[in-house]
Amino acid sequence: MSNPIAFIDLQAQRRRLGEPLTRAINDAVEGGQWVLGPQVAELEKLLAEFAGVKHAIACANGTDALMIVLRAWDIGPGDAVFVPAFTFAASAEVVALVGASPVFVDVLEDTYNMDPASLEAAIGQVKREGKLKPRAVMPVDLFGQPADYRAIEPIVAREKLMLLCDAAQGFGGLLDGRRSGGIGDAAATSFFPAKPLGCYGDGGAVFTNDSALDELLRSIRMHGQGIDKYENVRIGVNSRLDTIQAAILLEKLKVFPAEIDMREAVARRYNEAFRSINSIRVPHMIAGAQSTWAQYTIQVPDRAKLAADLKAKGIPTAVYYPIPLSKQKGYKHYPAAPTPVSERICDTVISLPMHPDLDAATQTTIIDAVLASVGSA
Ligand SMILES: Cc1ncc(COP(=O)(O)O)c(C=O)c1O
Repeated sequence: MSNPIAFIDLQAQRRRLGEPLTRAINDAVEGGQWVLGPQVAELEKLLAEFAGVKHAIACANGTDALMIVLRAWDIGPGDAVFVPAFTFAASAEVVALVGASPVFVDVLEDTYNMDPASLEAAIGQVKREGKLKPRAVMPVDLFGQPADYRAIEPIVAREKLMLLCDAAQGFGGLLDGRRSGGIGDAAATSFFPAKPLGCYGDGGAVFTNDSALDELLRSIRMHGQGIDKYENVRIGVNSRLDTIQAAILLEKLKVFPAEIDMREAVARRYNEAFRSINSIRVPHMIAGAQSTWAQYTIQVPDRAKLAADLKAKGIPTAVYYPIPLSKQKGYKHYPAAPTPVSERICDTVISLPMHPDLDAATQTTIIDAVLASVGSA
């Protein structure tokens, strides 16, 4: 094969976006307001509209986006935040960074998202032990699919907790017509290049309908500023978005809905090819959900063999995630509900190339290689 197969082909997207993207970058440079310039304000407005919320607050990355919300809610030592055990480290990291305790919750075997029954168990456990105060729940829209908010929201409301949605992978997905990003007391996303809506560096945003929170977040992202830059009314951080990244995101946002459809078409082709194969578990969508397909992740009994067979044919794969956070060295001292599903799927999950520009011929090559490896029975 002449060109190597990409896991995520951002150069193909770059070519497709063409001259307008180059112009947008150039204008941002020539404009001279390189940090939080006018493109950032424009982006915040359009992102809020897209998510269906009142406010979007751009910041330096998705990790900060989660962290500044926890700071704004004054979550800290003695507080518990319920986080899935099967997610990227940033989800739990921010909880630990503000001095609070992540409490790990198991996920569902078929969607990879937070298991509401395990959340109930974890909340009960924390209340019984009486050492930590339950404050917030942080479901993750893993691999692009919104978590089961229909089941999670009533638990959060009954327990009088805050709901912070980690939409770093799922921003733009839908559940019952609600956008991931527009669900929860606040939601956070990442614009890391490989994300479904990514820039050419780091970036992130918070979404909320709460105008007081919006104001607080704008202060926190700028060193706790008051009415001007040199009045510091609280302890904040430096978490601003570069204008050049906003300019790139404005161009990418225009094509984002079409790209979600393109990703959906790729996922459908994989699903159709693999659904009837006994040794492959395809991703399951809950009713009323649309994924952004940040990853296309299957489960197979012999992952190492599949990865090696595909690698031999020049096809990249990735393992998200090999170890549950509840078992990671940096996190295993934090409380956790039993996490048998997270532990099991960490041994079987494998993600295949997924991006909007994956053409049918290349995808057929990938599908044939997977079927040849696992046996097409
Ligand atoms: C689930 C999840 N949460 C948070 C983050 C953090 O985003 P960032 O890399 O922009 O800090 C990521 C991105 O890698 C993620 O996948």
